[in-house]
Amino acid sequence: MDRILQLLEQRAATHSLRQLSYSGSGIDFFSNDYLGLAQNREIWMSVHQRMIDTAPKIWNGSTGSRLLSGNHAFMEEMERYCAHFFKGDAALLFNSGYAANVGLLSSIPQKGDTILYDEYIHASLKEGARLSLAQRYGFKHNNLESLESKLKRATGTVFIVIEAVYSMDGDHPPLSEIIQLAKQYNAVLIVDEAHSTGVYGTFGEGWVVEQGWSNEVDIRIHTMGKAIGAHGACIIAAPKVIEYLINFARSFIYSTAMSPHSYFTIQVALEYLQQHTVLLQKLKTNIRLMQSTLCTYPGYIPSSSPIQILQLSGNKAVQALSGYLNQQGFDIKPILSPTVKEGQERIRCCIHAYNTEEEIQQFNTALINYV
Ligand SMILES: Cc1ncc(COP(=O)(O)O)c(C=O)c1O
Repeated sequence: MDRILQLLEQRAATHSLRQLSYSGSGIDFFSNDYLGLAQNREIWMSVHQRMIDTAPKIWNGSTGSRLLSGNHAFMEEMERYCAHFFKGDAALLFNSGYAANVGLLSSIPQKGDTILYDEYIHASLKEGARLSLAQRYGFKHNNLESLESKLKRATGTVFIVIEAVYSMDGDHPPLSEIIQLAKQYNAVLIVDEAHSTGVYGTFGEGWVVEQGWSNEVDIRIHTMGKAIGAHGACIIAAPKVIEYLINFARSFIYSTAMSPHSYFTIQVALEYLQQHTVLLQKLKTNIRLMQSTLCTYPGYIPSSSPIQILQLSGNKAVQALSGYLNQQGFDIKPILSPTVKEGQERIRCCIHAYNTEEEIQQFNTALINYV
């Protein structure tokens, strides 16, 4: 226990102690609810009604793992719906993106195989790779030479793991070049679409579909807790991969399935998106507006996604700026080391379809006054 206390003290001394707080009532520049679906009354009411109409009995919980008492026909229907929506062959729903990524990477790569991952991938993918018996190596962020040099030395089946939008930088990978390399070295390509689901594509099918590469990417992870405004995640892959995950992904097997309510929320939200593409347009307009505001500041990381970054150096400096922005009425959080590398601490600004032009202008004025 002494060690635990020491580690907490170390965190406090380096201004990186994590603490729970309530989400504010200010202008939202921090949630992942990019389209406002988590707060959408129409979706909320429809889910309630659909459960009353469809459920054969009261269904507060799923009652068990999908492999025991927790599976129901509507869940499998939902998975077929997801496969169709995301333009894939088959889908499997997990309780969260975290559970999906850990289950996927811990089970599919085998002893003797190699996982090559972009150094900026999400903690859940790294955790999955760590649990795998395969060897694992990071390559430099979005750096094709670094990836290729690792591909040349890789053994067994090789898995390349990237994100469609990097969660801490908001940038995209050089996808067509990575697809070429994956083909050349016969590697399996895995793309996490956590921050691109609901945001790209005609109806929010994601960035890979928008780019026209859905047939070239072997496995995609679409999370439902961000732009979809719900919870859970689906893996899109070939039917045999899905069958394998049902048999070997421990985070799927040994966990109670999501509540029926969560499944219905996902389905209603995806249906809603198909009928309200105007939300995607509004989000894109707001992203462009924020880009043109932030690009004049040193430390801006170019991004065309809803994640817009101002990089500063040092936890104290970032905390001071975010504290000031909070006082000015903006809900925004600092991203501290060790979440990002020391010296790369940042303000992470999430843009939404429901942010107004005035809010973005107010944000710019606040930044001007701070400097
Ligand atoms: C890239 C990425 N993948 C996976 C996850 C985990 O998803 P979930 O929040 O549904 O567990 C996140 C969450 O922040 C993420 O940013």
